Order: sequence, then C-alpha cells, then structure tokens
Amino acid sequence: MLESLPMASQLTERTVVLGVTGGIAAYKAAELCRLLVKAGARVQVIMTAAACEFIAPLTMQTLSGREVLLDIFDSGRRAGVGHVEVASAADLIVVAPATADAIARFAAGMADDLLAAVVLASGAPILLAPAMNTTMWENPITQENLARLCRGGRATSVGPDAGQLACGWTGAGRMAEPDEILAAVLARLGSGVPARAGALEAQRVVVTAGPTWEAVDDVRFLGNRSSGKMGFALAEAAAALGAEVTLIAGPVGLDTPALVARRIDVESALEMREALRKTTPAADVVVMAAAVADFRPGVRVLGKLSRRDGKRQAARAARAIPLVPNPDLLAEIGRRRRGGRPYLMGFAAEVGLAGQALVERARSKLAEKACDLVVANEVGRAGVGFGSDENAVTLVFSDGRVVDLSRTRKDKLARAIWDTIGPELTVRQGPAQDPRETVPGAKNQRTSRAKGRDA
Ligand code: PMT
Repeated sequence: MLESLPMASQLTERTVVLGVTGGIAAYKAAELCRLLVKAGARVQVIMTAAACEFIAPLTMQTLSGREVLLDIFDSGRRAGVGHVEVASAADLIVVAPATADAIARFAAGMADDLLAAVVLASGAPILLAPAMNTTMWENPITQENLARLCRGGRATSVGPDAGQLACGWTGAGRMAEPDEILAAVLARLGSGVPARAGALEAQRVVVTAGPTWEAVDDVRFLGNRSSGKMGFALAEAAAALGAEVTLIAGPVGLDTPALVARRIDVESALEMREALRKTTPAADVVVMAAAVADFRPGVRVLGKLSRRDGKRQAARAARAIPLVPNPDLLAEIGRRRRGGRPYLMGFAAEVGLAGQALVERARSKLAEKACDLVVANEVGRAGVGFGSDENAVTLVFSDGRVVDLSRTRKDKLARAIWDTIGPELTVRQGPAQDPRETVPGAKNQRTSRAKGRDA
C-alpha cells in the first residue's frame, strides 16, 4: 500500500485507458479513476455492458472529465474516434476489475466489444486487476488465459488479494485496492517502454544464483533444488542492457550467459560470502537470487561416512549431523551499505503463501534484510520456482509499491524486473558502500572505473 498519494505530475502527458468490466469490484474503479486523474493522467474510460449494471457511466464520466466509451460503434460515431485511435493513443491499458470472462476473451483475441477491440488493436502495455470468485480464479483455464496474456511481458497483473469476497467466499479473488493498482501503474509507466539496450550502462551489477552445498563429508552435502536459472536469467538480461555483470554461481550446470563480464563459482554459503565481500563494495546493484542454505553441518567428516564402519562411524555421523546456522549474506550486505548503495534486491522463496500473505512475508524480509526490493515467489507449486523454466513473482518495494509479474519464462521475467527498476537505478547517485566497512583488501577489488565514478 502506498503511504501517500503521488504528486500530480507523475502521470502528466500519459494517456491511461481504464477498462471496467462487469464485476462487483467495478465500484472501486471510480476511486482508481480519481487517483489516476489526480496523478495527472488523461483517463479514457471504456465500460462493458455488464460493467454498466454495477456502476453508472455518469460516475466515471464525472471523475474522468471525459465521455465514457461504451460501444464499439459509438467510439467512432459519437466521440469522433474509432477503436483503433483509442488503442493507439493509450500509453497503458488498465482493466480493473478484470473478470474471468474478460481475461478469457482478451486471451482468445476476441474483439466483439469495444474494450476487447482496443486491447487487441493496441500495442500499449496492459495492466490487469483480476477480480472474481476464488474457484474461478483458481481454475486452471483462468490461470492459463492469464499466463497466455502475460507471456512476452506486454500484460502484467496486480492482485487479486485474498479475503472476504462479495459472493460470501473467503479466498483469493478480491480486486487489489485502488492505491495498489495506482502503484502498479506508476511502476509500469516508469518502464512502459521496454528498457532500451544500454539502459543499465555503467551499472555494476553482482548477481548470485543457484544453490549452496554444505558438506557433510567428502562426497555428501546438504543442498536444495535451485537450478540457477532465475539468477542466470537476471545476469544475462542485465548484461544485455549494458551492465557490467559479476555472476556468483553456486554449483549449477549452466553455461555463463553472453556478455557477463565475470563469473565466480562457489560451493558453500561461506564461499559465497567471501565472493560477495570481494565484489559488493564496488557494486551499484546486488541481486541475491541464490538459494543460500540457512544451516550447515557443524562438523565436516573427513573421508566418506560408511555404514560398514559400524557403530563407531554411526556415532561420528550422529555428531556430524547437528546443524549450525549460516550467516545471512543478504542481511550482512544490507547492514554494510551506506547512502542506499548498492541497490539491494533480495528474493523470498515461500511455500504455501500467496496474495497478501506472500506480500506481508516479503515485507518482513525487506525490513530484516534492509533491501530496496524483495522479489517474492511461491516455490511450492508445480512449474514455477525451483528448477523450472517459468516463474511468477511479486515485487515488493521498500517504498510500499507492490507489482505482480505473472507467470512467464524466467528470461522474460528477468527482463520485466529490470524494466521495472531500471529508471530508479539511473537516478541513484552518491558514493558506493563505505570501504571502511569492507574486509581488508576489498578496496583493491574496485576497478579504476569505479573509483572515477565515486570521486
Ligand atoms: O534457481 P532456480 O531453480 O531458477 O530457482 C529460483 C529460486 C526459486 C531459487 C529464486 O527465485 C529464489 O527464490 N531465490 C531465493 C531463495 C531463498 O533462499 O529464499 P529465502 O526466502 O530463504 O531467502 C531470502 C533471501 O535471503 C534470498 O535473497 C537469499 O538469497 C538470502 N539469504 C538466505 C539465507 C542466507 N543464509 N543468506 C542469504 O543471503
């Protein structure tokens, strides 16, 4: 939730097409319209016939200060513009509420009403605020329709939240609050144009990826199922946008992505910590996508534990199994940084949390680890998170913004993450992390380029 409303200039000169479809949450579209206008946007409201059953077009017309478009023929005749003109004028199309039916019709490429025709005819980014009954939301057909729309990054979604629904159910399906949608609009329009090549030029980015392995003996380890794909995708996308990327990789079977300047392979959390201590003092951005083990065996057994060694060996194994906590690498960087640098992006891997609960958990990690952004993903579902080629994440920012990036391929998602935060990075200034806080010798890791920038 935003703490305060945006300044009136934030959306000046931006045209937002606000599509309202037929659900009970349509009443919240009036407040969203008011917030968009207050932020300076030109708001063109389009309502479906079903939406008019829930809220009067006159309300939206009064709030937007523009005639509300209702009919595919009216859009050409009465307002003097066709649906193609409405489509091409849009900087962003927001559909709030987006019913299951509307999402299905957009995904099918239908154009049988004005809103669907504008969505189809426009190349503008789309922000969907789904709202529906929980079962409809959880139906794989709805999820597949949404994923289809979001594939490629043109469409993203915000919400739905979980809670008490108008139909009497409790669960996921409640439309995100208008201020959350406004935050997503601001994030989307800050980056509405996909970041151009070179948008991260001169940014020194450190990305960690993959699992850590914590040795039990010379051949066994405690590990996790991280493949490194998410972190490698972020490293590749940052390098393609012009960043100087250092990739710190846990034990993964992936090739170094094109254009990545430097790769440091590590195995354990303690090795990753050393690599971070050497590289983060000169970094502008640190991304902790690695699944760092929280615990390691307290003792490493030399050789190989064997059941044939009998009772004595079993006793040694029992002594070796007690775990000791690993340092929290992300929190350490958070504590060391000065003047908001480096920009710190953590991840939160959660099982069985979605919607608002996922956001709340991410917020507590954001605070504990002093990050600018936590990328929250639910890792207990098939096809997303650990090991898969796709992911779905919620970006939870320290300034209160929340942006949902729906399920898509990890490379597309990585690009969408950089598109969202890129504009913030370019305006950040000030000295890098205080070198007095770094380990001895770390200062020598800084490149001459880094010294020049910090002077
Ligand atoms: O590698 P893939 O197969 O592509 O899967 C991607 C992913 C699911 C691993 C990735 O998207 C992800 O969620 N990475 C973070 C996993 C994790 O460790 O989450 P966490 O909620 O336990 O930790 C929170 C943050 O603290 C993370 O940024 C983590 O890197 C960091 N951390 C955790 C423990 C620790 N000892 N030190 C840390 O720095």
